[in-house]
Amino acid sequence: MEGRICSLTLLFLVLSGAGALQVNIPDEIYEHARGDNISLPCSFTSKNLGGLVVISWSVKEIKANAKEILILTYYSSKGITDIKAIYEGRVSMDVDVPKGQANLKLNSITLGDNKIFECRVQIPGDDEGKPADTTRLVVLVAPSTPICKIQGKAEYGQNINLTCKSKEGSPAPTYSWESRDVRNVPRVATPRATTNGIKSLYNISKETSGYYICTSKNKIRSATCNLTLAVMPPSMTLGSAGIIGIVVAAVAALIIGIIIYCCCCRKKKQQEEYAMGVREEYTDKEPARNGESRQADGQEDPRGYDDSSVRSPDRYEEQSERNYDSRRDYDDRRSDYDDRRSDYDDRRSDYDDRRDKYSDRHERYEDERGYDDERRYNDSRDRRRDERDRRDDDDRRYEDDRHNDDRYNEPDDDRERGRPPVPPSNKPRRDYDD
Ligand SMILES: *[C@@H]1O[C@H](CO)[C@@H](O)[C@H](O)[C@H]1NC(C)=O
Ligand SMILES: *[C@@H]1O[C@H](CO)[C@@H](O)[C@H](O)[C@H]1NC(C)=O
Ligand SMILES: *[C@@H]1O[C@H](CO)[C@@H](O)[C@H](O)[C@H]1NC(C)=O
Ligand SMILES: *[C@@H]1O[C@H](CO)[C@@H](O)[C@H](O)[C@H]1NC(C)=O
Repeated sequence: MEGRICSLTLLFLVLSGAGALQVNIPDEIYEHARGDNISLPCSFTSKNLGGLVVISWSVKEIKANAKEILILTYYSSKGITDIKAIYEGRVSMDVDVPKGQANLKLNSITLGDNKIFECRVQIPGDDEGKPADTTRLVVLVAPSTPICKIQGKAEYGQNINLTCKSKEGSPAPTYSWESRDVRNVPRVATPRATTNGIKSLYNISKETSGYYICTSKNKIRSATCNLTLAVMPPSMTLGSAGIIGIVVAAVAALIIGIIIYCCCCRKKKQQEEYAMGVREEYTDKEPARNGESRQADGQEDPRGYDDSSVRSPDRYEEQSERNYDSRRDYDDRRSDYDDRRSDYDDRRSDYDDRRDKYSDRHERYEDERGYDDERRYNDSRDRRRDERDRRDDDDRRYEDDRHNDDRYNEPDDDRERGRPPVPPSNKPRRDYDD
């Protein structure tokens, strides 16, 4: 019915020759925040405005071949506006035919109103010109607070993504990351806006840790999220076997290294010693002291044995032989000393015997005053003197071997006390006799 009327009107306009209808929407795009009450302007001009004017608004999706949906139609003849059910209650038309104005009023717009709106004017008898115009309504939505997340493991050497996404925002927000270190000091970087909100971090380390702030922004407003990134060493649960393996390998390498080092060192030292003409055996650790220590090596130097134990086995054997020899030496001397001691005791008793004999002889001499006896006496006196000298020698040797031996000193005193009286008058007497 309407179509027929339109056609008739057009036919009339064409036939009448009047025309040049112009419908115009000033702007290509109108941006309004979600929830606002808005008005989409539409104006028209025609030479034939006294008659019937039919004005309609329709809408279609922003995509190719989208189907057009009628919102409302205004008929000037009776001032009637027909509104489609889905827009009932929130749309109206601000129409003033004489002024050529037909604005669409839309309350509480939503993201569903992001569409292309068309204003069309039909005036019978004026079908020339431009009967319709379109515009785009952009319903703006402030970005919702974005969600920051970490994709991947925040461990040393990993590559991770930081993601940032606002659930809503129209037009679609852009995202930019800035970072601050753990002391909240901004890192020098050029924030680059992305549409996907992904920041990729490669080969992260401890220094990568800090705060990462993502800003989600569109032309209305912006919102941020604040991500704390703590990059940790690879977790024990994941790599415990690997870590244990590394530790074991490191210890093994260390031991092998020590063994090799020791072998090399010993070989080198031996070579040095041979090169210096130092025979094996019994050197102290410092090569410079080799000569001294060999000269001064007391045969019973107890340290020598210990030192030799860390040296090559043949040295050890030789050293033990030496020690054994010196031990035997010592034992020999000890028994030597014992021998001499018993020797001395023997001589002592010998001496005592002789002294007794002397006393006897003295008495006999006193009695007989025999020349032979006297000569024997003199002989034995000489012998005794010799023995005393020898004893003195023994004393000295004994003193050398054993210092401060009281058991020895006592008999010495005894001997001094027990020294036989010097026979003073024998010779004169003999001379006297002669
Ligand atoms: C939009 O209009 C409705 C009435 O139609 C009113 O209640 C509402 O507060 C208006 N909203 C704004 C943002 O003006
Ligand atoms: C990070 O994002 C890139 C694409 O932007 C993707 O190829 C890569 O697999 C992501 N890495 C992780 C750890 O999710
Ligand atoms: C990762 O970073 C460390 C220093 O942090 C560096 O030694 C290593 O070579 C890097 N690895 C790669 C594959 O870039
Ligand atoms: C991010 O969070 C940390 C601690 O939660 C705070 O110290 C820092 O100031 C925050 N940065 C921003 C830009 O909000």
